[in-house]
Amino acid sequence: MAPTNLQTQAPVDLAAADAVIDSYQADKSWLVMILQDIQEAYNYLPQPVLEHVAVRLALTPSHVYRVATFYASFSLTRRGRHLILICDGTACHLRGAENLQEELTRRLGVAPGQTTADGLFTLETVACLGACALAPVMMIDGTYFGKLTSEKIVAALERFAAKEAPDA
Ligand code: FES
Repeated sequence: MAPTNLQTQAPVDLAAADAVIDSYQADKSWLVMILQDIQEAYNYLPQPVLEHVAVRLALTPSHVYRVATFYASFSLTRRGRHLILICDGTACHLRGAENLQEELTRRLGVAPGQTTADGLFTLETVACLGACALAPVMMIDGTYFGKLTSEKIVAALERFAAKEAPDA
């Protein structure tokens, strides 16, 4: 059941949220766009920010929460800087997706739905990535990795981790 009163948790800098809200003149009819831009700024929708959005747009917190939970593209939990989607649909499953998912879990130290301690990667499973001919498939930040193997997983993780290196 959706909470009717969003509790403030860890302190969150609201400046980025205010900048987004201001760019839409705090117009509540732009709520979905505002939440999209805020998610882009924070990489997810922190609860204190949702509460702040409600105050700024003169909406109830439960209304903002309902909208934030209605769209699958919104995340209310902290996400890593890179989102890994490993497909577990039928075509991918038949071609060994389960073992590849285990490989990802082992290498990242997180189960699907979790984010690595360094905040670099979030791992999710999906029912189909729409590229069954390339099964097994994973996607990182919108980039497809088809006919996936353990070697391709290692190379992809190294490539995305390298992007975060100080002199990358
Ligand atoms: S089942 Fe994996 S991409 Fe369709």
